[in-house]
Amino acid sequence: MMRKQLAALLDPADEAMTTLANAATFLSGALEGINWIGFYLLRGDTLVLGPFQGKPACTKIPVGRGVCGAAVRQNRTLRVPNVRAFPGHIACDAASKSELVVVLRDGNGLPLGVLDADSPVEARFTETDAALLEAAAEIISRVIAG
Ligand code: SME
Repeated sequence: MMRKQLAALLDPADEAMTTLANAATFLSGALEGINWIGFYLLRGDTLVLGPFQGKPACTKIPVGRGVCGAAVRQNRTLRVPNVRAFPGHIACDAASKSELVVVLRDGNGLPLGVLDADSPVEARFTETDAALLEAAAEIISRVIAG
């Protein structure tokens, strides 16, 4: 259901930033128990903050740093039940206790950026949430790839 709504909301004719802005606010309303959700876009070796919902966040993350940078370097989903136990975690909001990061990819499977969700609840994100956000990231990636 969430996937159909998301796909219906997004238009490949829109600019990527427009798509990401609507996707961020849609996902923010669709998930419970989160305090931040949004995008970082890969620009060279750096992830740059994109549209999001939540408190102001760090604007640049080097590939390999934090959960987002690790997800992009490894080109895979990272589900972190306790962010304090994750080496190099970047605390943008002190309230965040768990985190889920999925990768946006181009048609060749290469990373375009990440979709990052944070929660003030430890171990908030299940495998089902990961599958859901991976599906969302796929839809979004396809739309922004045009
Ligand atoms: N915690 C992330 C940084 C981004 S914020 O959570 C919005 C990380 O360690 O990559």
